[in-house]
Amino acid sequence: MNLERFERYPLTFGPTPLEPLPRLSEALGGAIEIWAKREDCNSGLAFGGNKLRKLEYLVPDILASEADTLVSIGGVQSNHTRQVAAVAAKLGLKCRLIQGSWVEWHDAVYDRVGNVQLSRIMGAEVLFSKEDFSIAIKESWEKAIDDVRREGGKPYPIPAGASDHRLGGLGYVGFAEELRAQESQLGVAFDSIVVASASASTQAGMVVGFKQDGRSSQVLGIDVTARPGDTKAMVRQIAERTADLIDLPQPIEESDITFLEDYAYPAYGVPSDETLEAIRLGARLEGMVTDPVYEGKSLQALVDLVRRGAFAPRTKLLYIHLGGVPALSAYSSSFKEG
Ligand SMILES: Cc1ncc(COP(=O)(O)O)c(C=O)c1O
Repeated sequence: MNLERFERYPLTFGPTPLEPLPRLSEALGGAIEIWAKREDCNSGLAFGGNKLRKLEYLVPDILASEADTLVSIGGVQSNHTRQVAAVAAKLGLKCRLIQGSWVEWHDAVYDRVGNVQLSRIMGAEVLFSKEDFSIAIKESWEKAIDDVRREGGKPYPIPAGASDHRLGGLGYVGFAEELRAQESQLGVAFDSIVVASASASTQAGMVVGFKQDGRSSQVLGIDVTARPGDTKAMVRQIAERTADLIDLPQPIEESDITFLEDYAYPAYGVPSDETLEAIRLGARLEGMVTDPVYEGKSLQALVDLVRRGAFAPRTKLLYIHLGGVPALSAYSSSFKEG
């Protein structure tokens, strides 16, 4: 793997913990051994999360560009924009964030608590946009970039989820290297990996990173966008781009991408009853807290797949917890009774 060629600016603590989840395994029948890899505990920067692993590879480019303002975009409760705000604070840069109306959710303080609150506290300029959900480049983001230029600043654009960026897939290629090393240290090998997929570079990076051990397709990407066609196409596109970038000897093929479309209902950012059940299950059995937008849905998928017998007995199943808990306070109405 040619990852060493790329400069990495450390934003995280180091390898993230691997944790067995014996009570969850037992509650789901005891035949499948479930573990978690805790990307949610990866950094002291504003509660951490998967974007920091990606941004570690963008920061050298940001510094080289001599930009003074990071400009990014996400939904109102975007974890990504919160992590960009943290990186800007850490680097002493300004930060302008477009928060789009991507989610139909009506908690009274949805636009004041959680991620958006943290971004404001960290000094980011938070601008709301009426544009609805899309992972494509947005007009309001481009306008924000132009505005920074017009005001005499030097913007560095970071796309939604840091995904549709030349370097956006590298972080999760590194994840695969890290997991391989942990597996050989612990003497375990995971058969399948469950991961939420939205702006797509987390899964895409893993697909590239696990290609050398022939287990790209064992990365089960769980769609949370409810636009599975677009999202799966992005996984493929980013995986191909990242494979080219690191000179991966083998081509990425359609069969390398496993993408499960059944769990994003009723909509992006809106939990189903089954999502809420999975959140309570993880929290009550393991003290592992997940959010209603991303990780609750991938946990819901894991619970459903295990219950339906999708894995052979004694399968070692790894759930990737990518972060997202700061959004929970914006979903207080879902948890009034716990
Ligand atoms: C907590 C959390 N989980 C999963 C994802 C999905 O990752 P990606 O956008 O790289 O597909 C995101 C971001 O979109 C996230 O914030």
